[in-house]
Amino acid sequence: MIAIGCDHGGYELKLEIIKHLTERGFEIKDLGCNDTNSCDYPIYAKAVADCVAGGEAELGILVCGTGIGMSMAANKVDGIRAALCADCFSAQATREHNNANVLCLGARTLGPGLALMIVDKFVDTPFSNDERHIRRINMYS
Ligand code: RB5
Repeated sequence: MIAIGCDHGGYELKLEIIKHLTERGFEIKDLGCNDTNSCDYPIYAKAVADCVAGGEAELGILVCGTGIGMSMAANKVDGIRAALCADCFSAQATREHNNANVLCLGARTLGPGLALMIVDKFVDTPFSNDERHIRRINMYS
């Protein structure tokens, strides 16, 4: 399962991501927000991060205006490795090297076409399981 959340700035892009991933056959858990009314992104960052850290979802996706606030908030949750990505190379590398478990996207910095390519790269790339990457990830905390 993939957990997804957004704030008002990311709401429209979140709907596109949900449609895309559902059509691809993924099970999606949408944890809000549910419209474009102004709201506080840390609420949704924590909801998705808790869902991933608790093991209910394998991966999470968070969308706000820039993706920055979502990544800062999500990374406060133990066990979360949230990565803000604006290109496909980073999305692949952060899965392979950092075993990132939450993807953060900026709806105001990305077009929907690129955003969906980044999402695909993130969900389709497995962690490398290389010893050196495991060692480095274990040095995060
Ligand atoms: C909301 O205006 C905006 O601050 C938020 O979407 C995000 O960009 C925060 O990092």
